[in-house]
Amino acid sequence: MLACSRLTFIFLTVAVPCALSQHAPPWTEDCRKSTYPPSGPTYRGPVPWYTINLDLPPYKRWQELITDKAPALKVIVNSLKDVVNAFVPSGKIMQIVDQKLPGLLGNFPGPYEEEMKGVADITGIPLGEIISFNIFYEFFTICTSIIAEDKKGHLIHGRNMDFGIFLGWNINNNSWVVTEELKPLTVNLDFQRNNKTVFKASSFAGYVGALTGFKPGLFSLTLNERFSTNGGYMGVLEWILGKKDAMWIGFITRSVLENSTSYEEAKNILTKTKILAPAYFILGGNKSGEGCVITRGRKKSLDVYELDSKEGRWYVVETNYDRWKNPFFLDDRRTAAKMCLNQTTQENISLPTIYDILSTKPVLNKLTVFTTLMDVTKGQFETYLRDCPDPCIGW
Ligand SMILES: *[C@@H]1O[C@H](CO)[C@@H](O)[C@H](O)[C@H]1NC(C)=O
Ligand SMILES: *[C@@H]1O[C@H](CO)[C@@H](O)[C@H](O)[C@H]1NC(C)=O
Ligand SMILES: *[C@@H]1O[C@H](CO)[C@@H](O)[C@H](O)[C@H]1NC(C)=O
Ligand SMILES: *[C@@H]1O[C@H](CO)[C@@H](O)[C@H](O)[C@H]1NC(C)=O
Ligand SMILES: *[C@@H]1O[C@H](CO)[C@@H](O)[C@H](O)[C@H]1NC(C)=O
Ligand SMILES: *[C@@H]1O[C@H](CO)[C@@H](O)[C@H](O)[C@H]1NC(C)=O
Repeated sequence: MLACSRLTFIFLTVAVPCALSQHAPPWTEDCRKSTYPPSGPTYRGPVPWYTINLDLPPYKRWQELITDKAPALKVIVNSLKDVVNAFVPSGKIMQIVDQKLPGLLGNFPGPYEEEMKGVADITGIPLGEIISFNIFYEFFTICTSIIAEDKKGHLIHGRNMDFGIFLGWNINNNSWVVTEELKPLTVNLDFQRNNKTVFKASSFAGYVGALTGFKPGLFSLTLNERFSTNGGYMGVLEWILGKKDAMWIGFITRSVLENSTSYEEAKNILTKTKILAPAYFILGGNKSGEGCVITRGRKKSLDVYELDSKEGRWYVVETNYDRWKNPFFLDDRRTAAKMCLNQTTQENISLPTIYDILSTKPVLNKLTVFTTLMDVTKGQFETYLRDCPDPCIGW
């Protein structure tokens, strides 16, 4: 949605000077050790839990949560408006978003339309802006996801949620504006039917999709953004023009978490369903070998890279680059994560050691909003808000 030349401008002025050597201290550091349980300057605090009752009609499900979080949601929606108005000062874009976007996009399938309407009505924020808030994550989610298997075949799935690049830099305290505003909006959600957990997710209040979640005992799923020239913009355009056979990526992950009942079923759907934007799905199961990174084009899967302990492949790591390509030279979180996994060794893989790896710069960076740790078989699901005090790289 933002013009490329302007992005390049921001990139050159803000980003490049501090990124010239992402491979050297202070932007990188030795693999962290003994950082768990979280404490100290890189730990911002805990994340509150809310229950989302799937037995309620979609329009009503988010009421309690959104009533609590409406002020914080208004702050961020206003920031995003400011960004848009900075690019197109006439205010025309926001006018279109408020008045025309819901009509342009038409109805969303499943529960999503009614859920977003519920959020809009409770907050008094125009539906078009709530929809934009939901679409945003299709484009700007820069993350690191890891699934590792220990010597006993036990799986741990971890992820850093990095979000807010290019959306404004606060020069007073060297932080990303939107990243900071997302921290008070971060919530843990327990989606229930008949008073029983169906799945759990870590998310941002006002967002009705799911980018990070698990189904206890069955599988875990995270979504990372994939940049591609045949990107999501084309998908959205086709959607507007009436071709609605593809799924929004944050909505397909929510549907899988809610309705799939096994690793294999989830894998099948995530591999085959047409989607609006390219993406990486990082899916873990409940036993040895069940962990994969699915690299998706909009129409089909390009690669499914799965754990294979016998071949020595006891972990998979995904940041935001195809595994057969080098990462962008200013953004190599992948090598850092792999190096720390190698140093940890398969013997010592555990929830705490995965937290150590996700706490090591530049895997941890100024875009990191939260860290989630999931143990499907033990039913553990933990999310922690993060900070990355100076010196720390912007992404
Ligand atoms: C930076 O300042 C903003 C605005 O005052 C505040 O919301 C945010 O929490 C600060 N971030 C950090 C990392 O101190
Ligand atoms: C869920 O639990 C609440 C209180 O514990 C109870 O009032 C309600 O009837 C239960 N709902 C279902 C669907 O079992
Ligand atoms: C899950 O399946 C139920 C029953 O088919 C459906 O009503 C619901 O919309 C689905 N949930 C999602 C998130 O797609
Ligand atoms: C693991 O997942 C499968 C479905 O893929 C399920 O049938 C099985 O019961 C699960 N195992 C455990 C121990 O929960
Ligand atoms: C990690 O270890 C594997 C297997 O020994 C090796 O191929 C790979 O180059 C190592 N990666 C890093 C970043 O150290
Ligand atoms: C693995 O953990 C054990 C026990 O905490 C420790 O003694 C050992 O040094 C660790 N190994 C590595 C490679 O970190």
